[in-house]
This record gives sequence, structure tokens and C-alpha cells, in this order.
Amino acid sequence: MQVSPRLNRPQARFLALEHKYRAFVAGFGNGKTWVGSAGLCQHAWEWPKVNSGYFAPTYAQIRDIFYPTIDEAAFDWGLTTEIHESNKEVHLYSNGVYRSTILCRSMEKPGDIVGFKIGKALIDELDVMKALKAEMAWRKIIARMRYSVDGLKNGVDVTTTPEGFKFVYQQFVKAVRDKPELASLYGLIHASTYENAKNLPADYIPSLLASYLSIVVGRSTASRWKHKLARLCRLRSPNGCFFSGASISARRTFTCS
Ligand SMILES: Nc1ncnc2c1ncn2[C@@H]1O[C@H](COP(=O)(O)OP(=O)(O)O)[C@@H](O)[C@H]1O
Ligand SMILES: [Mg+2]
Repeated sequence: MQVSPRLNRPQARFLALEHKYRAFVAGFGNGKTWVGSAGLCQHAWEWPKVNSGYFAPTYAQIRDIFYPTIDEAAFDWGLTTEIHESNKEVHLYSNGVYRSTILCRSMEKPGDIVGFKIGKALIDELDVMKALKAEMAWRKIIARMRYSVDGLKNGVDVTTTPEGFKFVYQQFVKAVRDKPELASLYGLIHASTYENAKNLPADYIPSLLASYLSIVVGRSTASRWKHKLARLCRLRSPNGCFFSGASISARRTFTCS
């Protein structure tokens, strides 16, 4: 079977990264939770019966953001969901046939991330947490990647808003700069909200710009990290014009079995 999920350009670039650890750093409404969910759906197609994990800073985020997003994204990938709020699991089905489960856990108490086994993880909004807590959660999650199956990457995707020089910067940028041999393990994509404009209400970006610093919209350049405190100035889309080159959604085809 072939599925053709809708992905904007940075989302497609992100899913094409071969690295074991991948980070998608982007502003509000950029499609971070969506692309992370897409990664979980791709995993469900590729590795039936190998469970995955979704991690958010709080349980409220799992309930209010992840459950609706995974449902919508799964539909796009030809899958259906069964959401079990009581035990915080999402079951994925293709044509009514069970494929795998996404275990959803909050990172409020990183020490509680124990006692289960997954072969793929999505950590959403990791940098919202303090760097030390984020690092503890990261370590706990890595320790859960325990499926031993030939060819399985046990990969971890991180999706986060740029919060300055916090954990994601330390792990995906600084550590790789200090030890270049890590570059094959860690991949990073920066994206701008402009690149998801087609999937947002027409007044979404103008409203953000009217109310916040430009950092929440983001720019698709690695120099993002140097601009921790971006100011309300020179707001430009990646193609140089203000809020016009918006409709850049693409369809990618994936072969599923
Ligand atoms: N590739 C896509 N195709 C269709 N809708 C998308 C896509 N990516 C994101 N969206 C929609 O854009 C909105 C913002 O996406 P979301 O993943 O919640 O952003 P973020 O996590 O960056 O705040 C949501 O309504 C989501 O359904
Ligand atoms: Mg999100």
C-alpha cells in the first residue's frame, strides 16, 4: 500500500533525516506535533507490533494537543486511532487490523519514566522544561529504547520551540560541534511558521507578530541559536517577502506494508 501524507517542506526534510536522534526546532503553529506524529505513523507502518512513546512536559498537553493531532495525522497516513485516556495509550490500526501502541507519558517527574519498552520515541516541547530536567527526561527515555530487532533504529525525535541555549542546543548543536563524530547520530531541522502557513488560519501569523517577539514565528536558519533574544524587526519569510510565499505544502509518497 502507498500513502501520500501531507507534509510541508521542512517536515518532509525532517522525516527524510537518517539520524538516530532528530530535532525539529520551530515556532508556534509550525507543525511540530504534526511532523512528530507523522514520524510515529511511519514507524507504525514500518515496524508493526513495535510500540512507540510520546512524551510531553505535562499530561494536559498529551490530552489537549497530542490526542487530536495524532488522530488527524494518522488519518493522513491511512491509519485509525483508538485513544485510551485511562491508561494513556493510543492504538493504531490499518484497515481495522491492529499495528502498534503509542504509550503517552508526561515528563513532569522524569523519574517515573520507567517500566516499559519502546522502539521509537517522540519528545514534544522538550525545551519548555529546565535544561537539567530535560536532560533527566532524555536519559530516562533513551533507557526505554529496548527493542532488540534487526534493523530497528530505536530512534528519538524531538520537536520543540526555540527556547535559547537549553538542552536541545547543548545536545544537538554544542555536543556535536565539540565531538564531530556525533554528527552522524544527531540531525536538526530549523523551520519557520511561514512554511506551515497553508495549514493555518489566514490571520494566525499576523496575530502572532502583533503580539509576540519574532522568535515565536522563527526563521529557517541555523543562526537561530545566535539570536536568543530576537527582536521585533525585519520580519521576513524564508523567500524574503513578508508573509506571501506561504503555500508550500507538498505530498510525499511512502510505501507501507
Ligand atoms: N502537513 C500538514 N498538513 C496539514 N495540516 C498540518 C500539517 N502540519 C501541521 N498542520 C496543522 O497546522 C496546525 C499546527 O500544527 P501543530 O503540529 O499543532 O504545530 P506546533 O506543534 O508547531 O504548534 C494544526 O492545526 C495542524 O493540524
Ligand atoms: Mg505542538
